[in-house]
Amino acid sequence: MTGEIALIEGDGIGQEVIPAATSVLEAVSSFEYTSVEAGDETKAETGTALPEVTEAAVKEADATLFGAAGETAADVILPLRNAVDSYVNIRPVRAYPGVNALQPETDIVFLRENTEGVYAGVEDDLTSSLSTLTRVVSDSASRRVGKFACEYVTSVSAEQFHVVHKANVMQKTDGRFRDNVREVAKQQGVEIEEFLMDAFATRVCLSPEQFDVIVCPNLAGDVLSDLAAGLVGGLGLLPSANIGPSNAVFEPVHGTAPDIAGQGIANPTAAVLSAAMMLDHLGMQQEAARVRDAVEKVLDTGPHTPDLGGRATTREVTSAIIDFIWANLIGLNRIAVNLSLT
Ligand code: NAI
Ligand code: MG
Repeated sequence: MTGEIALIEGDGIGQEVIPAATSVLEAVSSFEYTSVEAGDETKAETGTALPEVTEAAVKEADATLFGAAGETAADVILPLRNAVDSYVNIRPVRAYPGVNALQPETDIVFLRENTEGVYAGVEDDLTSSLSTLTRVVSDSASRRVGKFACEYVTSVSAEQFHVVHKANVMQKTDGRFRDNVREVAKQQGVEIEEFLMDAFATRVCLSPEQFDVIVCPNLAGDVLSDLAAGLVGGLGLLPSANIGPSNAVFEPVHGTAPDIAGQGIANPTAAVLSAAMMLDHLGMQQEAARVRDAVEKVLDTGPHTPDLGGRATTREVTSAIIDFIWANLIGLNRIAVNLSLT
Protein backbone atom coordinates (compact mmCIF):
# COMPACT_ATOMS: atom_id res chain seq x y z
CA MET A 1 0.00 0.00 0.00
CA THR A 2 1.34 3.40 -0.98
CA GLY A 3 -0.35 6.71 -0.40
CA GLU A 4 -3.86 7.73 0.58
CA ILE A 5 -5.79 9.23 -2.30
CA ALA A 6 -8.98 11.28 -2.21
CA LEU A 7 -11.14 10.48 -5.23
CA ILE A 8 -13.77 12.87 -6.60
CA GLU A 9 -15.49 11.73 -9.77
CA GLY A 10 -17.76 14.79 -9.99
CA ASP A 11 -20.25 15.08 -12.86
CA GLY A 12 -20.63 13.94 -16.47
CA ILE A 13 -17.65 12.06 -17.91
CA GLY A 14 -15.82 12.54 -14.59
CA GLN A 15 -17.84 9.50 -13.52
CA GLU A 16 -16.43 7.55 -16.47
CA VAL A 17 -12.79 8.62 -16.67
CA ILE A 18 -11.94 8.53 -12.94
CA PRO A 19 -12.92 4.84 -12.58
CA ALA A 20 -10.83 4.23 -15.72
CA ALA A 21 -7.85 6.00 -14.13
CA THR A 22 -8.15 4.10 -10.83
CA SER A 23 -8.29 0.76 -12.61
CA VAL A 24 -5.02 1.69 -14.35
CA LEU A 25 -3.55 2.77 -10.99
CA GLU A 26 -4.48 -0.62 -9.55
CA ALA A 27 -2.45 -2.29 -12.30
CA VAL A 28 0.76 -0.66 -11.02
CA SER A 29 0.25 -0.56 -7.24
CA SER A 30 -2.40 -0.52 -4.54
CA PHE A 31 -3.73 2.56 -2.78
CA GLU A 32 -6.08 3.52 -0.02
CA TYR A 33 -8.91 5.57 -1.50
CA THR A 34 -11.33 7.92 0.15
CA SER A 35 -14.21 8.52 -2.26
CA VAL A 36 -15.94 11.83 -1.72
CA GLU A 37 -18.42 13.90 -3.70
CA ALA A 38 -18.61 17.30 -5.34
CA GLY A 39 -20.30 19.02 -8.26
CA ASP A 40 -23.76 19.64 -9.70
CA GLU A 41 -25.30 16.35 -8.56
CA THR A 42 -23.92 16.83 -5.05
CA LYS A 43 -25.37 20.35 -4.95
CA ALA A 44 -28.77 19.05 -6.04
CA GLU A 45 -28.67 16.38 -3.31
CA THR A 46 -27.07 18.27 -0.44
CA GLY A 47 -27.46 21.95 -1.26
CA THR A 48 -23.72 22.51 -1.57
CA ALA A 49 -21.39 21.69 -4.46
CA LEU A 50 -18.40 21.08 -2.19
CA PRO A 51 -19.37 19.52 1.16
CA GLU A 52 -17.06 20.12 4.11
CA VAL A 53 -16.31 16.41 4.32
CA THR A 54 -14.93 16.53 0.75
CA GLU A 55 -12.69 19.50 1.47
CA ALA A 56 -11.45 17.82 4.66
CA ALA A 57 -10.69 14.57 2.80
CA VAL A 58 -8.68 16.49 0.19
CA LYS A 59 -6.66 18.27 2.89
CA GLU A 60 -5.95 15.01 4.68
CA ALA A 61 -5.07 12.82 1.69
CA ASP A 62 -1.58 12.54 0.21
CA ALA A 63 -3.10 13.57 -3.13
CA THR A 64 -6.47 14.01 -4.83
CA LEU A 65 -7.70 12.78 -8.20
CA PHE A 66 -10.64 14.83 -9.45
CA GLY A 67 -12.78 14.32 -12.57
CA ALA A 68 -14.85 17.40 -13.44
CA ALA A 69 -17.77 19.44 -12.21
CA GLY A 70 -20.45 20.98 -14.45
CA GLU A 71 -22.06 24.35 -13.82
CA THR A 72 -20.63 24.37 -10.30
CA ALA A 73 -17.04 24.01 -11.58
CA ALA A 74 -15.90 27.34 -10.11
CA ASP A 75 -17.51 26.50 -6.75
CA VAL A 76 -15.63 23.22 -6.66
CA ILE A 77 -12.27 23.53 -8.31
CA LEU A 78 -11.26 26.96 -6.98
CA PRO A 79 -11.81 25.97 -3.31
CA LEU A 80 -10.17 22.59 -3.97
CA ARG A 81 -7.07 24.34 -5.31
CA ASN A 82 -7.17 26.62 -2.25
CA ALA A 83 -7.55 23.63 0.06
CA VAL A 84 -4.09 22.43 -0.96
CA ASP A 85 -2.73 25.98 -1.32
CA SER A 86 -2.00 25.20 -4.94
CA TYR A 87 0.04 28.01 -6.42
CA VAL A 88 0.87 26.45 -9.77
CA ASN A 89 -1.09 24.45 -12.32
CA ILE A 90 1.05 22.22 -14.54
CA ARG A 91 -0.47 21.41 -17.94
CA PRO A 92 1.64 19.34 -20.33
CA VAL A 93 0.49 19.47 -23.96
CA ARG A 94 2.05 16.82 -26.18
CA ALA A 95 1.42 15.45 -29.64
CA TYR A 96 1.63 11.64 -29.58
CA PRO A 97 2.61 9.26 -32.37
CA GLY A 98 -0.55 7.59 -33.68
CA VAL A 99 -2.75 10.59 -32.98
CA ASN A 100 -3.70 12.88 -35.80
CA ALA A 101 -2.36 16.23 -34.55
CA LEU A 102 -2.51 19.57 -36.34
CA GLN A 103 1.01 20.22 -35.09
CA PRO A 104 2.87 16.92 -34.45
CA GLU A 105 5.95 18.72 -33.08
CA THR A 106 4.08 20.11 -30.07
CA ASP A 107 5.62 19.32 -26.68
CA ILE A 108 4.93 22.18 -24.28
CA VAL A 109 4.39 22.43 -20.55
CA PHE A 110 2.27 25.32 -19.31
CA LEU A 111 2.96 26.52 -15.76
CA ARG A 112 0.00 28.64 -14.83
CA GLU A 113 -0.22 30.89 -11.79
CA ASN A 114 -3.11 29.30 -9.93
CA THR A 115 -4.35 31.67 -7.23
CA GLU A 116 -5.01 35.14 -8.53
CA GLY A 117 -5.30 37.31 -11.67
CA VAL A 118 -8.90 37.60 -12.87
CA TYR A 119 -9.77 34.32 -11.13
CA ALA A 120 -9.22 35.82 -7.66
CA GLY A 121 -13.00 36.09 -7.34
CA VAL A 122 -13.17 39.86 -6.79
CA GLU A 123 -16.25 40.67 -8.87
CA ASP A 124 -18.94 43.22 -8.17
CA ASP A 125 -22.19 44.62 -9.50
CA LEU A 126 -21.61 48.36 -9.08
CA THR A 127 -25.09 49.22 -10.35
CA SER A 128 -27.94 47.22 -11.88
CA SER A 129 -26.32 47.67 -15.29
CA LEU A 130 -22.60 47.72 -14.51
CA SER A 131 -20.30 44.97 -13.25
CA THR A 132 -16.59 45.08 -12.46
CA LEU A 133 -13.81 42.64 -11.77
CA THR A 134 -10.57 43.35 -9.95
CA ARG A 135 -7.41 41.71 -11.23
CA VAL A 136 -5.16 40.72 -8.36
CA VAL A 137 -1.40 40.26 -8.84
CA SER A 138 0.97 40.03 -5.89
CA ASP A 139 4.75 39.87 -5.67
CA SER A 140 4.56 36.72 -3.55
CA ALA A 141 2.35 34.67 -5.93
CA SER A 142 4.34 35.82 -8.98
CA ARG A 143 7.64 34.95 -7.33
CA ARG A 144 6.35 31.57 -6.21
CA VAL A 145 5.40 30.52 -9.73
CA GLY A 146 8.66 32.01 -11.06
CA LYS A 147 10.69 30.01 -8.56
CA PHE A 148 8.74 26.84 -9.38
CA ALA A 149 9.43 27.42 -13.09
CA CYS A 150 13.18 27.76 -12.47
CA GLU A 151 13.24 24.49 -10.52
CA TYR A 152 11.05 22.84 -13.15
CA VAL A 153 13.25 23.74 -16.14
CA THR A 154 16.31 22.57 -14.22
CA SER A 155 14.61 19.27 -13.35
CA VAL A 156 13.64 18.55 -16.96
CA SER A 157 16.99 19.80 -18.33
CA ALA A 158 15.31 22.53 -20.37
CA GLU A 159 17.44 25.54 -21.16
CA GLN A 160 14.96 28.31 -20.55
CA PHE A 161 11.31 29.21 -20.22
CA HIS A 162 9.05 31.73 -21.87
CA VAL A 163 7.04 34.12 -19.75
CA VAL A 164 3.83 35.05 -21.55
CA HIS A 165 2.00 38.21 -20.47
CA LYS A 166 0.30 41.39 -21.64
CA ALA A 167 2.34 43.89 -19.65
CA ASN A 168 2.29 46.42 -22.48
CA VAL A 169 -1.42 47.02 -21.69
CA MET A 170 -1.92 45.74 -18.13
CA GLN A 171 1.17 47.56 -17.00
CA LYS A 172 0.68 47.38 -13.26
CA THR A 173 -0.66 43.83 -12.93
CA ASP A 174 1.09 41.92 -15.71
CA GLY A 175 4.03 44.29 -15.32
CA ARG A 176 4.34 43.12 -11.70
CA PHE A 177 3.97 39.49 -12.74
CA ARG A 178 6.63 39.78 -15.47
CA ASP A 179 9.09 41.78 -13.34
CA ASN A 180 8.91 39.31 -10.47
CA VAL A 181 9.31 36.25 -12.68
CA ARG A 182 12.17 37.98 -14.49
CA GLU A 183 13.92 38.85 -11.22
CA VAL A 184 13.58 35.34 -9.76
CA ALA A 185 14.91 33.80 -12.98
CA LYS A 186 17.90 36.16 -12.89
CA GLN A 187 18.63 35.22 -9.28
CA GLN A 188 18.40 31.51 -10.13
CA GLY A 189 20.53 31.86 -13.26
CA VAL A 190 17.76 30.65 -15.58
CA GLU A 191 17.35 32.22 -18.98
CA ILE A 192 13.91 33.51 -19.96
CA GLU A 193 12.28 34.92 -23.05
CA GLU A 194 9.15 37.03 -23.11
CA PHE A 195 6.13 36.89 -25.38
CA LEU A 196 3.02 39.05 -25.44
CA MET A 197 0.12 36.67 -25.02
CA ASP A 198 -1.79 37.63 -28.17
CA ALA A 199 1.31 37.23 -30.34
CA PHE A 200 2.03 33.98 -28.51
CA ALA A 201 -1.42 32.63 -29.45
CA THR A 202 -0.51 32.99 -33.13
CA ARG A 203 3.07 31.83 -32.76
CA VAL A 204 2.21 28.67 -30.83
CA CYS A 205 -0.17 27.63 -33.62
CA LEU A 206 2.41 28.27 -36.33
CA SER A 207 5.59 27.01 -34.58
CA PRO A 208 4.85 25.10 -31.38
CA GLU A 209 8.29 23.45 -31.59
CA GLN A 210 9.76 26.80 -30.59
CA PHE A 211 8.39 26.45 -27.04
CA ASP A 212 9.17 24.09 -24.16
CA VAL A 213 7.99 25.65 -20.90
CA ILE A 214 5.52 28.54 -20.70
CA VAL A 215 4.91 30.54 -17.52
CA CYS A 216 1.80 32.69 -17.50
CA PRO A 217 -0.89 34.35 -15.41
CA ASN A 218 -4.03 32.43 -14.45
CA LEU A 219 -6.55 33.20 -17.22
CA ALA A 220 -3.89 33.20 -19.94
CA GLY A 221 -2.74 29.73 -18.83
CA ASP A 222 -6.29 28.43 -18.84
CA VAL A 223 -7.09 29.69 -22.32
CA LEU A 224 -3.74 29.16 -24.03
CA SER A 225 -3.42 25.55 -22.84
CA ASP A 226 -6.90 24.76 -24.23
CA LEU A 227 -5.80 26.42 -27.47
CA ALA A 228 -2.71 24.23 -27.52
CA ALA A 229 -4.94 21.17 -26.90
CA GLY A 230 -6.38 21.86 -30.35
CA LEU A 231 -2.91 21.42 -31.85
CA VAL A 232 -2.44 17.90 -30.50
CA GLY A 233 -5.85 16.22 -30.88
CA GLY A 234 -8.17 17.72 -28.30
CA LEU A 235 -9.00 18.02 -24.63
CA GLY A 236 -9.23 14.27 -24.10
CA LEU A 237 -5.43 14.18 -24.00
CA LEU A 238 -4.51 16.88 -21.48
CA PRO A 239 -3.71 16.07 -17.84
CA SER A 240 -2.96 18.60 -15.13
CA ALA A 241 -1.60 18.96 -11.63
CA ASN A 242 -2.43 21.65 -9.06
CA ILE A 243 0.66 21.72 -6.89
CA GLY A 244 0.78 23.06 -3.35
CA PRO A 245 3.63 23.07 -0.83
CA SER A 246 2.79 19.64 0.57
CA ASN A 247 -0.31 18.41 -1.21
CA ALA A 248 -1.77 18.42 -4.70
CA VAL A 249 -4.92 17.91 -6.79
CA PHE A 250 -4.71 16.12 -10.14
CA GLU A 251 -7.40 16.52 -12.79
CA PRO A 252 -7.92 16.25 -16.52
CA VAL A 253 -8.06 19.69 -18.13
CA HIS A 254 -11.42 18.90 -19.72
CA GLY A 255 -14.85 19.44 -18.19
CA THR A 256 -17.91 17.20 -17.94
CA ALA A 257 -18.40 16.91 -21.74
CA PRO A 258 -22.22 16.89 -21.59
CA ASP A 259 -22.39 16.15 -25.33
CA ILE A 260 -20.93 12.65 -24.81
CA ALA A 261 -21.52 11.98 -21.09
CA GLY A 262 -23.21 8.66 -20.30
CA GLN A 263 -22.29 7.08 -23.64
CA GLY A 264 -19.15 5.33 -22.40
CA ILE A 265 -16.99 6.86 -25.13
CA ALA A 266 -14.99 9.51 -23.23
CA ASN A 267 -11.27 9.40 -23.85
CA PRO A 268 -9.68 8.26 -20.57
CA THR A 269 -6.19 9.48 -21.56
CA ALA A 270 -6.34 12.86 -19.80
CA ALA A 271 -7.48 11.28 -16.52
CA VAL A 272 -4.99 8.40 -16.75
CA LEU A 273 -2.12 10.81 -17.46
CA SER A 274 -3.29 12.97 -14.52
CA ALA A 275 -3.01 9.82 -12.39
CA ALA A 276 0.54 9.33 -13.75
CA MET A 277 1.40 12.88 -12.68
CA MET A 278 0.03 11.97 -9.25
CA LEU A 279 2.30 8.92 -9.10
CA ASP A 280 5.29 11.17 -9.81
CA HIS A 281 4.16 13.47 -7.04
CA LEU A 282 3.91 10.50 -4.64
CA GLY A 283 7.51 9.57 -5.48
CA MET A 284 6.45 6.57 -7.60
CA GLN A 285 8.41 7.49 -10.73
CA GLN A 286 8.75 3.93 -12.03
CA GLU A 287 5.02 3.28 -11.77
CA ALA A 288 4.33 6.65 -13.44
CA ALA A 289 6.65 5.70 -16.30
CA ARG A 290 4.87 2.34 -16.72
CA VAL A 291 1.51 4.08 -16.98
CA ARG A 292 2.82 6.64 -19.48
CA ASP A 293 4.50 3.96 -21.62
CA ALA A 294 1.22 2.04 -21.79
CA VAL A 295 -0.82 5.15 -22.65
CA GLU A 296 1.64 6.10 -25.39
CA LYS A 297 1.59 2.57 -26.80
CA VAL A 298 -2.21 2.53 -26.96
CA LEU A 299 -2.32 6.02 -28.49
CA ASP A 300 0.14 4.79 -31.11
CA THR A 301 -1.55 1.52 -32.01
CA GLY A 302 -5.17 2.08 -30.95
CA PRO A 303 -7.84 1.39 -29.95
CA HIS A 304 -8.98 5.03 -30.05
CA THR A 305 -12.14 6.69 -28.74
CA PRO A 306 -14.29 8.70 -31.22
CA ASP A 307 -12.66 12.06 -30.35
CA LEU A 308 -9.47 10.64 -31.90
CA GLY A 309 -11.31 9.21 -34.89
CA GLY A 310 -11.79 5.69 -33.49
CA ARG A 311 -14.81 3.65 -32.41
CA ALA A 312 -13.59 2.25 -29.10
CA THR A 313 -15.27 2.76 -25.75
CA THR A 314 -13.65 4.19 -22.62
CA ARG A 315 -13.57 0.66 -21.23
CA GLU A 316 -11.86 -0.83 -24.30
CA VAL A 317 -9.12 1.82 -24.30
CA THR A 318 -8.62 1.40 -20.54
CA SER A 319 -8.39 -2.39 -20.90
CA ALA A 320 -5.81 -1.99 -23.66
CA ILE A 321 -3.71 0.26 -21.38
CA ILE A 322 -3.92 -2.26 -18.53
CA ASP A 323 -3.14 -5.19 -20.86
CA PHE A 324 -0.03 -3.38 -22.04
CA ILE A 325 1.08 -2.72 -18.45
CA TRP A 326 0.75 -6.42 -17.63
CA ALA A 327 2.41 -7.55 -20.86
CA ASN A 328 5.31 -5.22 -20.18
CA LEU A 329 5.64 -6.50 -16.62
CA ILE A 330 5.69 -10.14 -17.76
CA GLY A 331 8.31 -9.17 -20.36
CA LEU A 332 10.44 -7.47 -17.69
CA ASN A 333 10.10 -10.48 -15.38
CA ARG A 334 11.21 -12.80 -18.19
CA ILE A 335 14.30 -10.66 -18.75
CA ALA A 336 15.01 -10.71 -14.99
CA VAL A 337 14.65 -14.51 -14.85
CA ASN A 338 16.90 -14.92 -17.91
CA LEU A 339 19.52 -12.63 -16.38
CA SER A 340 19.45 -14.57 -13.11
CA LEU A 341 19.94 -17.82 -15.06
CA THR A 342 22.97 -16.56 -16.98
P1 NAI B 1 -15.54 20.20 -21.94
O1 NAI B 1 -14.09 20.04 -21.70
O2 NAI B 1 -16.45 19.45 -21.04
O3 NAI B 1 -15.87 19.76 -23.46
C1 NAI B 1 -15.37 20.45 -24.58
C2 NAI B 1 -15.39 19.51 -25.80
O4 NAI B 1 -14.34 18.55 -25.66
C3 NAI B 1 -16.69 18.70 -25.92
O5 NAI B 1 -17.00 18.56 -27.28
C4 NAI B 1 -16.33 17.37 -25.32
O6 NAI B 1 -17.07 16.28 -25.82
C5 NAI B 1 -14.85 17.23 -25.67
N1 NAI B 1 -14.15 16.45 -24.65
C6 NAI B 1 -13.71 16.90 -23.46
N2 NAI B 1 -13.14 15.90 -22.77
C7 NAI B 1 -13.21 14.80 -23.55
C8 NAI B 1 -12.80 13.45 -23.38
N3 NAI B 1 -12.17 13.02 -22.26
N4 NAI B 1 -13.05 12.57 -24.39
C9 NAI B 1 -13.65 12.97 -25.51
N5 NAI B 1 -14.06 14.24 -25.73
C10 NAI B 1 -13.86 15.14 -24.75
O7 NAI B 1 -15.84 21.77 -21.89
P2 NAI B 1 -17.24 22.55 -21.97
O8 NAI B 1 -18.16 21.88 -22.94
O9 NAI B 1 -16.86 23.94 -22.19
O10 NAI B 1 -17.86 22.46 -20.52
C11 NAI B 1 -18.81 21.47 -20.11
C12 NAI B 1 -19.04 21.62 -18.60
O11 NAI B 1 -17.84 21.29 -17.92
C13 NAI B 1 -19.45 23.03 -18.16
O12 NAI B 1 -20.49 22.90 -17.23
C14 NAI B 1 -18.19 23.60 -17.50
O13 NAI B 1 -18.50 24.48 -16.43
C15 NAI B 1 -17.53 22.33 -16.98
N6 NAI B 1 -16.05 22.42 -16.88
C16 NAI B 1 -15.49 21.92 -15.74
C17 NAI B 1 -14.13 21.91 -15.57
C18 NAI B 1 -13.57 21.34 -14.31
O14 NAI B 1 -14.31 20.74 -13.54
N7 NAI B 1 -12.28 21.45 -14.07
C19 NAI B 1 -13.22 22.42 -16.62
C20 NAI B 1 -13.90 22.87 -17.80
C21 NAI B 1 -15.28 22.87 -17.93
MG1 MG C 1 -10.29 25.53 -18.63
